[in-house]
Amino acid sequence: MRQDDKMTALKRIPLFTRLSKKELRFLAQMSSETNVGEGSKVVKQGELGREAMIIEEGTAEVVRDGEHVVDLGPGDFFGEMSLINHMPRNADVIATSDMRLLVMDSREFSSVLSQSPEVAVKILKTVVERLVENQESHV
Ligand code: CMP
Repeated sequence: MRQDDKMTALKRIPLFTRLSKKELRFLAQMSSETNVGEGSKVVKQGELGREAMIIEEGTAEVVRDGEHVVDLGPGDFFGEMSLINHMPRNADVIATSDMRLLVMDSREFSSVLSQSPEVAVKILKTVVERLVENQESHV
């Protein structure tokens, strides 16, 4: 994909809509796109996390200890938690359709958070919500 097309695609993702051109260009450099097929286990519970993913197209489900937690769709991200806390993946994430994903490794993810504080705050809010949700489902 051409860099301009990639930036246009990135701007459509709600998490990134408000980024400046400079930030979008940086994000485009810091991420790659990949396709996965329906049924693939994109993230495996218990493994060390190396990448965070943002869904451009398609759907996935979060499954913990074999139990469905939540469905994810376009604009949602996953795999961020273990990059932030260096703990093993706390759930599986399984593609429930063919998917197009934006992928960042740990170093790229940190660079994007440093470059775009607004994105960092949005991710922080979502992570706190997820932690609370996961704690509540344990009581
Ligand atoms: P990570 O722990 O790296 O790998 C599993 C991922 O599942 C986790 O990051 C989150 O991205 C995602 N996840 C875990 N719990 C929830 C939740 N309650 N809602 C949405 N996504 C979640």
